[in-house]
Amino acid sequence: MKIAVLPGDGIGTEIVAEAIKVLQVLDLPLEMESALVGGAAYEAHGHPLPESTLKLAMDSDAVLFGAVGDWKYDKLDRPLRPEQAILGLRKNMGLFANFRPAICYAQLVDASSLKPELIAGLDILIIRELTGDIYFGQPRGRRIATDGHFPGAEEAFDTMRYSRPEIERIAHVAFQAAQKRSKRVTSVDKNNVLETSQLWKDVLVEIGQQYTDVALDHMLVDNAAMQLVKAPKKFDVLVTGNMFGDILSDEASMLTGSIGMLPSASLNSKGQGLYEPSHGSAPDIAGKGIANPLATILSAAMMLRFSLNQEAAAQRIEAAVQKVLQQGLRTADIYSEGTTKVSTVEMGDAVVKALI
Ligand code: IPM
Ligand code: MG
Repeated sequence: MKIAVLPGDGIGTEIVAEAIKVLQVLDLPLEMESALVGGAAYEAHGHPLPESTLKLAMDSDAVLFGAVGDWKYDKLDRPLRPEQAILGLRKNMGLFANFRPAICYAQLVDASSLKPELIAGLDILIIRELTGDIYFGQPRGRRIATDGHFPGAEEAFDTMRYSRPEIERIAHVAFQAAQKRSKRVTSVDKNNVLETSQLWKDVLVEIGQQYTDVALDHMLVDNAAMQLVKAPKKFDVLVTGNMFGDILSDEASMLTGSIGMLPSASLNSKGQGLYEPSHGSAPDIAGKGIANPLATILSAAMMLRFSLNQEAAAQRIEAAVQKVLQQGLRTADIYSEGTTKVSTVEMGDAVVKALI
């Protein structure tokens, strides 16, 4: 089982190191190889996604990814910015199905900004289409000079597009995920305004007819944003396009108290996957040893489950995370009075200890 390890920038290196520590005590035949990605790769090779990094990822069964990005690259020409690395990996590997669970851990119920009764027991699965939509529309209507300054642009545009096969395949993923859960899918779009959304809705209805055991409903994205904070537990599987999914998954993650807890998986049709925490590179706290490694450790668990067929090992990791939370250990982002504040490394060590 070959894993490409791409820590990236900011807190990426610190949190990925903890996930590797956890993977190593599992006693599985894992072959791990690391490479630079994002700003780190730009510094070393002049490109955020060097050929060698992409090849390593494509030749692996799974990619364990940290995070990319730093404000210091904001002035770079867009194709050289760290974020292009993750977009390039998604596109080149065909990772069209992004799973972003938002689960509220009982021990962290007070860490949310919402009232405990609204979020206790919350367990939503956001399924975001990841390789289409306005993220990859052509043409991009704006040139940025290499010095990073806009040469007096009067207009800029991005095109939102979706094709029927792109919507069909993500619809199948959503209905099949719902079959394993509460058999409900909410499809989120903006069909009252956008043609892409009308196509999205039509295709969802059509594919839904093949899944008679799953109930499908539709919600406009602005309403969905509101309902997520009003009554989040009404959702189960939520499926949406790339742009809306980006926004709603950040919103959903904060319902649970900390974005530092949430893993994610991005899968292609061959079962290959890229696994990363839902949060970003947090350059403001990088190198301080205070980042929460649990989202990355839980992403490693998802990797074992979805790409490496190691369900038992995945459950062991998830149980170990529950145990350290039960023990009252908290990194700064989830700390509250009466619990014990620990560093990134101490949290990783505690999960390892809980495993053996
Ligand atoms: C995410 C991130 C990325 C996205 C950025 C880093 C390009 O926000 O994974 O949600 O917009 O998809
Ligand atoms: Mg995002």
